[in-house]
Amino acid sequence: MKDKLIQIIKEAGEILKDGYYSKKDVTFKAKKDLVTKYDVAVENFLKKKFEEEFVNFNVIAEESDNTNKIFSNSIIVDPIDGTTNFVNKLPHTAISVGVYKDKKPFIGIVYNPILDELYTAVVGEGAFCNDVKLEVSDESDFQKALLSTGFPYTSGTCADDLNDVMKKLTNILPKCQDIRRLGSAALDLCYVARGIYEGYYEMNLKAWDVSAGIIILQEAGGKISNIDGSDYVLFQNKYIVASNNKIHEEFIENLKV
Ligand code: IPD
Ligand code: CA
Ligand code: CA
Repeated sequence: MKDKLIQIIKEAGEILKDGYYSKKDVTFKAKKDLVTKYDVAVENFLKKKFEEEFVNFNVIAEESDNTNKIFSNSIIVDPIDGTTNFVNKLPHTAISVGVYKDKKPFIGIVYNPILDELYTAVVGEGAFCNDVKLEVSDESDFQKALLSTGFPYTSGTCADDLNDVMKKLTNILPKCQDIRRLGSAALDLCYVARGIYEGYYEMNLKAWDVSAGIIILQEAGGKISNIDGSDYVLFQNKYIVASNNKIHEEFIENLKV
C-alpha cells in the first residue's frame, strides 16, 4: 500500500507545485483560515485515486464534508498543510496523508513537493526522509532544546485561546533554546522526527494536520501526548505535545500555566 500511496501523492504534488508558482485567488474559511482552488484540486485528486485504489478504507479530508464518515479504516488527508505559506510562496508546505486500520496508526506520508522532501513511515518499520532513516535528537537538556509551535486561527477571534498562547510563550521561551513558528503542523512533527527540533506543541489542530506526522515521529523514536502527558487521542485533544522523548516530562511541566 505504501508504494501506491507514494506514487499517488507524488502525482498530487505536481498539482501543488503548479499552484505554488501561479497567481492564486484566496477564499477565507474564517478570519485567518485561507483556502485556494489548489487545496480543493489536490484533495479531489487524492480522494478519487484513494477511493479507487483502497476500497477497504474511507477518506476523511479537510476540504470535504465528513459528516457521515466513521473513523475506522481511514485515510486522513490534508491536501495542503501550510496553506498560508503556500499562498505567500514560503516553501514550507506539504501534502499529509495518515492511514489508520481499525483506528490504529498504520502508514504516515508527508510530502513537500517544493523542496522534494518525502517523509514516510510504516508502523514497526521506522521513519525515513527520501529513504534516509530518521532519528529524533538525543538532546536532553531543556535549556538547549529548539522548540516549534503554531498559533491557532482562533487567535484572531477567541481571547481565551490568544491569552493561553501568550501565557505559555512567556513561561517557556526563557527556559528553552528558542522557538520557531514555520506554519505547517505536519512538517513540524517531521522536523522533530528528523532531529531538527527537540519538541513541538500547538492547540486546536485537526486530525488531518497531524494524522501522518504522529506516525512518522513515533517511528523515529519520538513521543506524542496530550498537554497533561496522557496519550494523544486523534480527533479529541485540544493540545498536542510532541518531542524527542528525552525532554518530554520537563516540556509538559513548562507548559503548565
Ligand atoms: C495549519 C498549519 C499551521 C497550524 C494551523 C493549521 P492549514 O493547517 O498546520 O501550521 O498552525 O493550526 O491549521 O490550514 O495550512 O492546512
Ligand atoms: Ca493543516
Ligand atoms: Ca490544509
